[in-house]
Amino acid sequence: MAFTLDTTYAGATLAQIPALAKEAAAAHNALHAGTGAGKDFLGWLDLPTEYDKEEYARIQSAAEKIRAQSSVLVVIGIGGSYLGARAAIEFVRGQEHNRDEDFEVYFAGNSLSSAAVSRLRDYCADRDFSVNVISKSGTTTECAVVFRVFKELLEKKYGKAGAAERIYATTEYNEKKSKLYALSLAEGYALFNVPDPVGGRYSVLTAVGLLPIAAAGVDTNALLAGAAAAQSAYQSDDIAQNDTLLYAALRNLYYREDKRIEILSVMEPDFALLGEWFKQLFGESEGKQGKGLFPASTVFTMDLHSMGQYIQEGERTLFETFLTVKESPAEVRLENAAGDPDGLNFLAGKNLAFLNEQALQGTRIAHADGGVPGLLVTIDKADAWHLGYLFYFFEKACAVSGYMLGVNPFNQPGVEAYKNNMFALLGKPGYEKERAELYARLNKQD
Ligand code: PA5
Repeated sequence: MAFTLDTTYAGATLAQIPALAKEAAAAHNALHAGTGAGKDFLGWLDLPTEYDKEEYARIQSAAEKIRAQSSVLVVIGIGGSYLGARAAIEFVRGQEHNRDEDFEVYFAGNSLSSAAVSRLRDYCADRDFSVNVISKSGTTTECAVVFRVFKELLEKKYGKAGAAERIYATTEYNEKKSKLYALSLAEGYALFNVPDPVGGRYSVLTAVGLLPIAAAGVDTNALLAGAAAAQSAYQSDDIAQNDTLLYAALRNLYYREDKRIEILSVMEPDFALLGEWFKQLFGESEGKQGKGLFPASTVFTMDLHSMGQYIQEGERTLFETFLTVKESPAEVRLENAAGDPDGLNFLAGKNLAFLNEQALQGTRIAHADGGVPGLLVTIDKADAWHLGYLFYFFEKACAVSGYMLGVNPFNQPGVEAYKNNMFALLGKPGYEKERAELYARLNKQD
C-alpha cells in the first residue's frame, strides 16, 4: 500500500468515529455537489485529471528553456504562491538540492528582509538567472516589491528585451484584477494561468507549483499521477472507505475535546517545508470566526530535543499526526568499532533508517502514554508520486474538515488586517485616515 493512515494510538476518541460518519459524509457530499461555502473555489478537486494539457506542455518547455538559459532560477512568491513548490523540491530532491548542481533554485518574495533580498541579488549579479514571479492576485506587496528589484537587475544585465526572455509570470489571467497580468502582457513575459476557481493554498498542482517544480528537475508527471491516484481513492462518502473523511472527523473530534493544537511531526528533515505548506493549508482554511485547530509542525528527531519536552508533559491540548516514509533512498550502516569506545557496538550492522523507525515507534508510544493521541501517515517512498498523493490527501481532508467545523475553508478574510495597516504606514494613497489613526496609536508624528 503506497499510503496508510494508522490510528493505533488515536486514543478513546476513535470509538466516536461512527457517530460522525453522517456529518463527514455530508461535508464530503457538499464539497462534490458544490453546495458548501466557498463553492466557487473547487477547481483543485479535479486538477490532477483535468489539467489543461496545452498549458501543461507550455510549462514543460518553459522549464527546459529556463534550465538552458540560466544557472539560477529565482522564484518570487509568498504563501500559496511559494510553499508548495519549495516543499516539493525539498521533499523530492532534498534540502541541499542546490549543492553541487549546475542549476540552482532560490526563493524570494516571501519576506521583506533586506538581508535576504540583497544577498540573493548579489549572488545573481554575476550569474545567468531567470525569474518566475508568482502571484494569483498579481497585487501582493512582498512579491511585487521583490520582483521590481530582480526585474531591474535583469534589465541592467540583459537589456529590456533580454530580461523579458527570462521572466516567467504566473498569475490569474484577469487584466482588471492582476497588475502582474497587465504588466506581463505589456512587457511580453511568458504567462501561465492560475485558474480563478483554485485558491492560493490549493494551487500547487497548477503552474504555481508545476513550473518551478519542473524547472528543478522533479517529475511533474509522477506528481500529478500520485495526486490522481488520491483523487480516485477518495471518492466515497463512506468514512470506512475514505481516509480523508476519517482524518477530518478525528481532527474535529479532538478539537471538540479541547485538543486545540495539531502537530504534524515529520521524520525526515526534507519534509520540513511540507510541514510549512501543511500549516498554511489548515491554518488559513480553518482559523476563522474564532474557531479552528492551531496547526504546528516539528521535525523529528531534531525537535524531540527541543519541543519533545512540551509535547510529552506540557498542556494536554495537543494531538499529533506523524508522517514517515518506509523506504530510504540510501543506506548508512554502523560499523563495529574496536574496543566499543562510544558504547554503540550493540548497533553494529544496523541501518540509520532502522534507528529512525525505532525513534518513531518509541515516540508514538511515549507521546500517547503522555496524553497526546497520535495518528501515523506512512508513505512508501519520498518521491514525486507519493508527494502528489499527500498533497491531494491533505487538501481534500482540509476542505472536509473545514466544512465539519462550520467555516468556509476557501477564503482568508483575516489576512487583510495587517495589509491595511502596512499600506497605511507605507503611505499608500487612499489610506490617509488609517495612517493618521495608526500614527496616533504609535505615538509618531507624520
Ligand atoms: O491561500 C491564499 O490564497 C494566500 O495564502 C495566497 O496564496 C498568498 O496570500 C499569496 O497571494 P498571491 O498569490 O495572490 O500573491
